[in-house]
Amino acid sequence: MNEVVFSKAEGRIGIIEINSPPVNALSHAVRDGIVRALQTARNDKDVEAIVLICAGRTFIAGADIREFGLPPKAPHLPEVVAALEASPKPVVAAIHGTALGGGFEIALGCHYRVAGVAAKVGLPEVKLGLIPGAGGTQRLPRLIGVEGALQMIMSGNPIAAKKAAEMGAVDHVVLDDLLKETIDFTGKLLDECAPLRRLCDIQIDPGSVPENYYDEFRLANARRMRGYFAPERIISAVQAAVEMNFEDGMRRERELFIECLHSPESIALRHVFFAERKAGKVDGLTKDTPLRDTKSVALIGTGTMGGGIAMNFASKGIPVHMVDVDDAAIERGMAVVRSNYMRGVKKGRMSEAQFDTLMQLFIPTTNYEDLAGVDLVIEAVFENMAVKKDIFRRLDQVCKPGAILASNTSTLDLNEIAAVTSRPQDVVGLHFFSPANIMRLLEIVRGAETSLEVLATVMGLAKKIGKVGVVSGVCHGFIGNRMLEGYIREAGLMLLEGAKPEQIDRVLYEFGMPMGPIAMGDLAGIDVGAKVREERRRKGTFPADERFGLVADKLVAMGRCGQKTGAGVYRYEEGSRAAIPDPEVQTLIQNEAARLGISQRHLSDEEILTRCIYPLINEGAKILDEGIAQRASDIDIVWINGYGFPPYRGGPMHYADHVGPGKIYEQICRYRDTLGNEFGYWESAPLLEKLASDRRKFADL
Ligand code: 3HC
Repeated sequence: MNEVVFSKAEGRIGIIEINSPPVNALSHAVRDGIVRALQTARNDKDVEAIVLICAGRTFIAGADIREFGLPPKAPHLPEVVAALEASPKPVVAAIHGTALGGGFEIALGCHYRVAGVAAKVGLPEVKLGLIPGAGGTQRLPRLIGVEGALQMIMSGNPIAAKKAAEMGAVDHVVLDDLLKETIDFTGKLLDECAPLRRLCDIQIDPGSVPENYYDEFRLANARRMRGYFAPERIISAVQAAVEMNFEDGMRRERELFIECLHSPESIALRHVFFAERKAGKVDGLTKDTPLRDTKSVALIGTGTMGGGIAMNFASKGIPVHMVDVDDAAIERGMAVVRSNYMRGVKKGRMSEAQFDTLMQLFIPTTNYEDLAGVDLVIEAVFENMAVKKDIFRRLDQVCKPGAILASNTSTLDLNEIAAVTSRPQDVVGLHFFSPANIMRLLEIVRGAETSLEVLATVMGLAKKIGKVGVVSGVCHGFIGNRMLEGYIREAGLMLLEGAKPEQIDRVLYEFGMPMGPIAMGDLAGIDVGAKVREERRRKGTFPADERFGLVADKLVAMGRCGQKTGAGVYRYEEGSRAAIPDPEVQTLIQNEAARLGISQRHLSDEEILTRCIYPLINEGAKILDEGIAQRASDIDIVWINGYGFPPYRGGPMHYADHVGPGKIYEQICRYRDTLGNEFGYWESAPLLEKLASDRRKFADL
């Protein structure tokens, strides 16, 4: 016993209770406490069996991730699990909340597992770039078979108690009082002289694994595994469970776990885990910041974006007014919503009845007066300041006091929008990413006058609808799109300098992006960027650089707007998304380069990568310096969840730390000298220069 693990007895049953908030992670104190409590129960002659249970919101949620960088301290987790398994008195795990990672491995070391009906079990280590390291890869296949175990470990997703029971991972599911029912279950085991079920004693029949199973598994999971380090090691560890005896399998698991633990991928993914949680902590907000109701929502603009946004709320049972200029426009938006939800029905994710209930939550209207009682209004019309101002003026007139007025603008000045209302404190930016019902990122734009109450409310709301909310200050493009500019610009310039579109896309794809910048432009529609450039040229805020966006602008003028028109930079066959390089575009690029006096050359993959990624990091440093982002890790979360930056690289700022800010600074200076800096493209961020000279990292800020 110690300060986080407690023992008591109820008759012949000893109870070990772990109470280490917030999630009973397996810190040294918890591990040590379990071993000591087990010894106490073992020595107590009156105790015949043991129940292991947790206090608070959950069963053990895993190893203590914060201890991963520290020197290991005995007892190590595999030893704790082994001690439970070796107990001569039956040990039963009583699971509520989530038994995850090392927590589930502890449960697997117990002889039986009882779970509350709402509980979940899982091995999410893969999401941290790890493999289960306390016997999970050896015991789970012995318990539920190789195929089920490999699926579960590779996906990292937790499984609900009932399903876990069907798979054999849990022995009994209880509806009410977990402790009482587990004690009853354990009592019955004693009465029936049930054997101690030690998973380490089970030998897996190699014949139970289908021929070529691992190769087929690799093939089926190739997309998910791309670029990741842990998955291949998970397969090896599970294979060891079949091909080796338990002790050797455990040794193999340990070696592979340690390899993963020190891999840059795992370091990056652990950074992402904590970064995501930090993003929720916003300057000025406390637990006591009052929250407003968000029981009803309205969407102004029911296009693809508005429809996607609305689905987030309806899916959580929140009614949504769908407002547009006429019934036809609303109907177009509703058709998108219907077809998206219908896909869920067809895939068996929801029933027809659930579909009908969901659809009833949408309230179409063309009348702003209907919004008088709504708690939150989100404007999602196209990017035009005059139109948005007009909408906010009307909202100011009809909405009740205290209603939150949000804009989904991706670039425009939120303060200017807020200024047309009599309540700028209630105005906030909610920048969703397309497709809005799927993408996890929600950039929350904090205007100069946005109140803390409003900010706290929308942060909470983001979590409720399953988004990760990141706060951004006001600037052109906010965090994400502002950084995107340099990335896209350089890709376009390199086309003129001689890089082929497919080379640029391959380099960024191999870096881990879901697709390269050129293919992404074709997917999103290159006319979108062309319009933004045109608007900025008109306003005089665009660099006077003819090369910037030139190829895209020429293609748009030819009616080649991307996939939607069958051609952009690439060509697309009818009904296919496969990008086909187009000689016609190559000729156009060569002609334009010649006209501008750019002599085309071979560009190395390294140059392509650094010219796309380093401007992005440089802009991130400026954003940080200006206080637009609260912390470097917030920028990482934006880029991972909004733009597909590979999570195993930890986001652009973590990647910068990995490469070294000094090295990036030097390369930016080299590009300034070799490529020229007439338009300020290679002006190093002062913060980057400072980190380089202090030999510090973004994580040190
Ligand atoms: N170690 C250390 N801290 C942890 C932790 C862990 N395993 N899990 C959660 N925390 C911390 C969070 O950082 C957060 O701290 P904060 O309040 O200071 O920000 C706090 O606990 C609460 O976490 P959440 O905000 O995530 O709370 P939720 O209720 O939303 O979610 C949860 C709870 C589902 C348990 C979620 O925290 C989670 O998924 N945790 C990670 C689980 C995991 O990955 N386990 C495997 C660890 S690796 C392992 O076990 C290796 C082994 O095989 C050897």
